[in-house]
Amino acid sequence: KTVFVLNGPNLNMLGKREPGIYGGKTLKDIENDCVTAGSSHGFAIDFRQSNHEGMLVDWLHEADEKAVGVAINAGAYTHTSVALHDAIRAISVPVIEVHISNVHAREAFRHHSMIAPACKGVICGFGPTSYILALHALKNITD
Ligand code: DQA
Repeated sequence: KTVFVLNGPNLNMLGKREPGIYGGKTLKDIENDCVTAGSSHGFAIDFRQSNHEGMLVDWLHEADEKAVGVAINAGAYTHTSVALHDAIRAISVPVIEVHISNVHAREAFRHHSMIAPACKGVICGFGPTSYILALHALKNITD
């Protein structure tokens, strides 16, 4: 069973990007943690990052063919993207929205998610552990 873990813009900069907010782990560190947690659930993790909205749309479509579920940290596109909302609605595998930071404790423009209504659920504010919690949730709802 494959789970896609998709990451949007600027998440390739983790480790040096605003460490006071996002912590010191790199995206590669988070990928390694996801692979370890995923294997304990019997999931193969397909972990990807793009700064391009359309690439994330293509990957969501691909997930519908290849994955049992998706965890997505859409970065700033979370707050803007009708295209990601529509792509999540267009596929039938469950999608969990993930954020490292507690977006509700930050600027007002981060309080609204365009994609949350299309997602199965939302996990935010637990640092990189948010990804691991999303994998737990996917294990739960896909069993
Ligand atoms: C983020 C929160 C977003 O508001 C922001 O644009 C990001 C990262 C997070 O993981 O906390 O790029 O998705």
